[in-house]
Amino acid sequence: MTNSGGRREYGPLGTTLVIIPTYNEVDNIQRIVARVRSAVPAAHVLVADDNSPDGTGKVADEMAVEDEQVHVLHRKGKEGLGAAYLASFRWGLDNGYGVLVEMDADGSHQPEELPRLLTALGQADLVLGSRWVPGGRTVNWPRSRQIISRGGSTYSRLMLGLPLRDITGGFRAFRRETLEGLGLDEVVSQGYCFQVDLARRAVQRGYQVVEVPITFVEREVGDSKMSRDILVEAMWRVTAWGVGSRVGRVTGRRDA
Ligand code: GDD
Ligand code: MN
Repeated sequence: MTNSGGRREYGPLGTTLVIIPTYNEVDNIQRIVARVRSAVPAAHVLVADDNSPDGTGKVADEMAVEDEQVHVLHRKGKEGLGAAYLASFRWGLDNGYGVLVEMDADGSHQPEELPRLLTALGQADLVLGSRWVPGGRTVNWPRSRQIISRGGSTYSRLMLGLPLRDITGGFRAFRRETLEGLGLDEVVSQGYCFQVDLARRAVQRGYQVVEVPITFVEREVGDSKMSRDILVEAMWRVTAWGVGSRVGRVTGRRDA
């Protein structure tokens, strides 16, 4: 299954790498990897584990031994979703993948919907799985989380002028060329605002970003890692980006 000469080619966009960040997902990891492998058999999986105390990384290693399309990136400790994705994107680009996918470990993002996202990527530079476009929905998600999520997307849309409905979601497919053009070396977002950061960079740089409706299913096992700190970081960063771009416009400066 491996490449010759550094580049992997399966289909016009190349091989897909599905990146699954994990922190304490020991009861979810086997099932989610198995679902990805059966929904998109040609895709590879990279589990990016932040040294989970519950042993998620060890279970992932055991799966990697059994399946050459499963890989594990061990990180030294919990450094946030943003850092885990940045390291994973670098790994995926260095290893020649053509499409890089973001997906949660807890079953909220259904691997069975991945083929639709990948098909849409044929006509786009970045595809967002979206809860807040017609046809998108959430199942069993507490009202409080829906309000935070919709509020966060609305605030980001208005503050940053983005023509998108689900700006914070984490079920996405990127062409490698898109990631290479986003200036990932400058990204400092740590928590879930990483998702907003990447979406705004893609729009700013003129990439074609398409939203595809998804059904987001609340996890049944384990705990959300959403925290007050993650919310606060998102609020101040989005506000700072929005104010920065307005000031830039008034003074004629181009923002980063
Ligand atoms: N490696 C690593 N490091 N993984 C992490 C970290 C971290 O610091 N924090 C969270 N994760 C992993 C979780 O283990 C899970 O696989 C995924 O990231 C999402 O975390 P959840 O804790 O399940 O997120 P959520 O359900 O509360 O949040 C959902 O909404 C967010 C805001 O819309 C998800 O859809 C997120 O992707 C989304 O940004
Ligand atoms: Mn979740």
